[in-house]
Amino acid sequence: MSNRLPVDHVVDEHGADGWKVSPGGLVTALEPVMREAGGAWIGWAGVADQEFDPFEHDGITLVPVPLSEDEVQDYYEGFSNDTLWPLYHDVIAPPSFHREWWDAYVRVNRRFAEAAARVASRGAVVWVQDYQLQLVPKMLREARPDLVIGFFDHIPFPAYGIYSQLPWRRQVIDGLLGADVIGFQRTADAGNFGRAVRRLFGYTTRGNVIEVPDGAGGVRRVIHRAFPISIDANAFESLARRPDVQERARQIRESLGNPETILLGVDRLDYTKGIRHRLKAFGELLNEGRLEVEHATLIQVASPSRERVETYMQLRDEIELTVGRLNGDQSTIGHQAVAYLHHGYPREEMAALYLAADVMLVTALRDGMNLVAKEYVACRFDNDGALVLSEFAGASDELKQAVLVNPHDIEGLKDAIIEAVEMPKKERARRMRALRRRVTEHDVARWSASFLEALTGAGVIPAGVS
Ligand code: G6P
Repeated sequence: MSNRLPVDHVVDEHGADGWKVSPGGLVTALEPVMREAGGAWIGWAGVADQEFDPFEHDGITLVPVPLSEDEVQDYYEGFSNDTLWPLYHDVIAPPSFHREWWDAYVRVNRRFAEAAARVASRGAVVWVQDYQLQLVPKMLREARPDLVIGFFDHIPFPAYGIYSQLPWRRQVIDGLLGADVIGFQRTADAGNFGRAVRRLFGYTTRGNVIEVPDGAGGVRRVIHRAFPISIDANAFESLARRPDVQERARQIRESLGNPETILLGVDRLDYTKGIRHRLKAFGELLNEGRLEVEHATLIQVASPSRERVETYMQLRDEIELTVGRLNGDQSTIGHQAVAYLHHGYPREEMAALYLAADVMLVTALRDGMNLVAKEYVACRFDNDGALVLSEFAGASDELKQAVLVNPHDIEGLKDAIIEAVEMPKKERARRMRALRRRVTEHDVARWSASFLEALTGAGVIPAGVS
């Protein structure tokens, strides 16, 4: 179960309706898992005020949960993306706290819990995903004590000093503790969660087990630990090996005038991704002559996201102003400094872009994992290409052979970009081979298997047994 289904309902310009792949890393990761597992995927179809019956899509049973226009505004755009998202990403943007948003969050979480309670068979495993649905585990356990319930948080869990700003900090943790296993991206996130539980509830934690009083004098044991998410690495590699995708990569390079170096950024247009920092560093490198526009081009794919939330509208204006200035100052006829693309693209096009890029820039200020970094690595079966990766993205715990950066340090970021641009071929190949080993061995199938193993193990431990 996740807020979004893997596909959004769309209506084209001729009024014909259809389904389009949803944005974001959660869907990229979970789609292959669900196709393999069977079962049903419960979520929202991405449009307000419309009801759909359950249906099959690409081999997966989808169970849509409806949201009204007010709920989209208060639960999704409001509480999920203007309260929790900025709060959990270390208040990079200021979170807004509104009681009506919270009320809608509770109401919608209840609707999701009721949907799962209706469709889950006896003793089934229900795996709840992400920050939009943190109250579901407890609500679902109350309605259906027979179920085995997991929760995975795809985004960071902040330090207590930040988390404690949330007026509903107790209710959210109480909701999560309804799960048998609570998974996080990084060990640091799990640690922050454990500290918040101890501070707010005083429950005992032993290693990664939290002892939650069961109301009958015993305890329920809830596991909290890191399960770093990944991608279907083989699927991305197969895509990149397709002759048409390789041909498309050649076309992309050619249409940019075959520059010596193509740098690439691929992000949802989100303030957590550090796009401004990246543009600043690139602009300064051109200005100082350390890179030349005749030889280096930055492709920035910024896919549209949460476009009715004010902070996202402001970010778009700022990024587009910066790109416009940078191109005005630095481009020459025939050589564009930044190719800025405000679109989402199908996976084939993404694989071609990854193949065309000499240097991949992931400069997130805070990111749960960042699967784009892993997609780039999975596509580079040629063992070429260099990855510049922010240490504030969860992926940096695993992808140690990337050029790791602190994106706030613009001078350091510039040096890292130059290091990646000038890295000798042999060194690039050495690093890429090690990165690829990590990404192919720890793929999404392994992620889901280890989570489900912890979950079904936890489900059979009787309450009160330590
Ligand atoms: C991140 C979140 C997902 C979310 C995705 C896209 O990856 O962790 O839960 O679905 O962004 O954002 P959106 O608001 O469009 O669903």
